Parts: sequence; C-alpha cells; structure tokens
Amino acid sequence: MTCILSIFQSFLHHFEHKYAQYQALYIHFVIKTAKPLFCCIFVTILEKDMKILVTGAAGFIGSKLAYRLAQRGDEVVGLDNINDYYDVRLKLGRLTQCGIISHSGRYIDGSIRESTLFPNYRFIKMDLADRGQMAEFFQQEKFDVVVNLAAQAGVRYSITNPYAYLDSNLVGFMNVLECCRHNDVKYLVYASSSSVYGMNDKVPFSEDDRVDNPVSLYAATKKANELMAHSYSKLYGLPTTGLRFFTVYGPWGRPDMAPMLFATAISKGEPIKVFNNGNLSRDFTYIDDIVEGTIQVIDRQPVAEQCPNNVPWKVYNIGCSKPVQLMDFINEIETALGVQANKIFLPMQQGDVLKTYADTSKLERECGYKPTTTLHEGIDKFIEWFKSDLNPLKP
Ligand SMILES: NC(=O)c1ccc[n+]([C@@H]2O[C@H](COP(=O)([O-])OP(=O)(O)OC[C@H]3O[C@@H](n4cnc5c(N)ncnc54)[C@H](O)[C@@H]3O)[C@@H](O)[C@H]2O)c1
Repeated sequence: MTCILSIFQSFLHHFEHKYAQYQALYIHFVIKTAKPLFCCIFVTILEKDMKILVTGAAGFIGSKLAYRLAQRGDEVVGLDNINDYYDVRLKLGRLTQCGIISHSGRYIDGSIRESTLFPNYRFIKMDLADRGQMAEFFQQEKFDVVVNLAAQAGVRYSITNPYAYLDSNLVGFMNVLECCRHNDVKYLVYASSSSVYGMNDKVPFSEDDRVDNPVSLYAATKKANELMAHSYSKLYGLPTTGLRFFTVYGPWGRPDMAPMLFATAISKGEPIKVFNNGNLSRDFTYIDDIVEGTIQVIDRQPVAEQCPNNVPWKVYNIGCSKPVQLMDFINEIETALGVQANKIFLPMQQGDVLKTYADTSKLERECGYKPTTTLHEGIDKFIEWFKSDLNPLKP
C-alpha cells in the first residue's frame, strides 16, 4: 500500500512541478485540493480490500466481527476449532448466520468451507495450538491482517481446567505470533481482557495503570499475550494492538456469562446465583459497540514513530465506561423477560473482581470510538434474540 501511495504521490508531485512554471494558480489550487482527496480515496479503497484472518470465528465476538468485515468487502477467512467448552449448537448457529453451513453439523479439520452469504468469506476448522497446520495455512493464505480472538475464555473455568488456557492462550498465541512473523503479516490485533486489571482498585481502569496483580490464570495468560506481542513488535517490527474487552453481552452471547445464565434460569423458573450478595459491578458493553471499535482499531495500525520507544505496540480498553451494579443488571433482565428472579445470595467467587470500569478516552481520542448502545436497549435486543427461534439454546 505504501509503495502504491508513494508512486501516486510522486505522480501528483510531477504535475505540480510542471504547472508551477505557468504560475497557474487555479491549477495549483486544483492539485492541492485533489491530492489529499485522491490519497484519501486510494487509502480507503486499499484498506477496504484487505485479506483478514479472524480467529475464534465461531465465537461470540469473532462471528459478529467476521460478518461485519465480510459485509464491508474485506476478504475474510474465519478460523475456529469449534471446541465444546460450551454448547456447540451456539457456535454452529453463529457460523450459519455468516452463511457457513454444515448440514451434518460436522467440520473436518483443515478443510475450507465457503460462505453462502458472502463470496468473500471462507471458514476453516483448525486449532491454534497445531503448529504444523498453522504454519502451512499461513504460508498458503498470506494475510494482511490477523485478528486473534480465539482463546480459552472464562475466569471460573481456569480454576478447574488450567491447561486449556496454556494450550490456546499461550501456545496458540505463540503460534499466531510466529506465523505472522514468517509470513509478512502487516498487523496483528488480539483480544486481551479487562481481567488484566486484577486487584487494581483505582477506577476507571486506565491503560496507564499497572497490571501486575492478576487474580486468575485466565487474566495471567491475557497479560502474557500483551507482553509476548510487545516482544514481537520490538524484535520484528510487527505492529500489534491488544484490546482489553469489558464484559461483552448481546444476541448470540456466551452461555457461561451472566446474561445467558440469568435469562435461562429465570425463564425456567430456577433460582439465579448472585455472588458477593450482589455487591459487584461490571462495565457491560454491547456486542455491536465492541465490533465497531475493533474495526476502527483494524483500520488504524500503530506506527513505530508515534509509539513509546519506537515500538509499534498498543493496548486499548474497549468498554462502555458505565459500570452497572449487578442488582440493577438483574432488574433489567427481569423487566425485559417480565418475570421476577428467585435469587440465591452467595459469597464472592474465587478469581472474581469487585468491579470493572473502563476509561476509554485513549481509544476515543486515537480511533474515534464511541459506544452508543444503552444497557436498556442492549438487554432488550438480547432478550428479543433469547426468546426467538434463532437461539438454539432457547429454554
Ligand atoms: N466476551 C467477553 O466479555 C470477553 C471479555 C474479555 C475478553 N474476551 C476475549 O475475547 C475473545 C473472544 O471472546 P468470546 O466471548 O467471543 O469467546 P468465545 O469462547 O465465544 O469465542 C472464542 C472462540 O475461540 C475458539 N477457540 C478456543 N480455543 C481455540 C483454539 N485453540 N484454536 C482455535 N479456536 C479456538 C472457540 O471455539 C470459540 O469459538 C477471547 O479471546 C476472550 O478471552 C472476551
């Protein structure tokens, strides 16, 4: 892209020079106006035409991101191992929404499936931790941008299944970094998490705060990803941006997270578990705001000269900046469902934090991020989907 732009700029420069001798002010004016305009159009065309790998493409955030990128015209390849950490029907349903359809519900490792909805979207079932397959795949495809969202998510599961986090979040992420390095990938965006703030009790959480006190192995692996990315940005000049997502919710959300757990239990007339006696707050962020913010970050890669120590590495908080008390959140779900919850109050769980609250001013300033969905609107949309036939887990 840089090469084409510089050829184009020297072409304009040549004309500027040629006409300068006639002192034709109007031509000069036209060129001065046309130059930024043409550059802008060129950049836009080239940026929209990127080949992007989205890992975790059967996941909650990845499926929606892949959909939006394919919709705007990028060439998109989705990757996921479709593991059974939670009900696979949800993952298959998300893929179907993107036109990736398997009538048998089976996908063969390493085989590519084309979207019936977008000619520019293909999906491959693959495990990030499979070093050989990943290396071969990257070499064949030659991506411009990689967005790594595949990971073993969930704070509580890391207490009982620590090795799942090492395999996907450390070995898998290492493979992504190595594949980017060896295949001339121009930019890596990856999912970090608000959980890196751990025991931080200063709010709102800022990217400048120290994050050395994780309270779960999950958080430790996400912090490790930020450090690993930094070393690759420094050593090999690979531009990387980590996104610290804050409690994402919405249609097609994860069944291990509060909105689905609560909505399912309330609908079945079962009690809901309210930890720390309800004295928790979370910066709930609607899925569409997360996806739009991620796209803004994809379109704006860090430039070494503008980063500390000339390392093209960034991390951003991406949240709503409006923390909600757990009891208020439950109240919104009760109202949307029209049913009162039977609540069981329990002590704080291991690995949990008291509150999360994102300072998103950096992302706003540098990329123009502005979440627009209120909790009320977001919960309404979530419950509408939850009660619809689209929800494969509808109670
Ligand atoms: N949802 C949130 O609130 C939230 C908050 C903070 C961070 N994150 C991070 O954002 C990313 C996306 O989260 P999500 O909510 O969409 O989770 P998700 O579990 O719905 O999606 C992750 C996807 O990655 C796939 N995957 C896991 N390990 C893999 C591997 N080794 N190889 C290939 N695929 C693999 C899973 O099958 C899944 O479909 C994750 O990295 C997560 O840690 C999410």
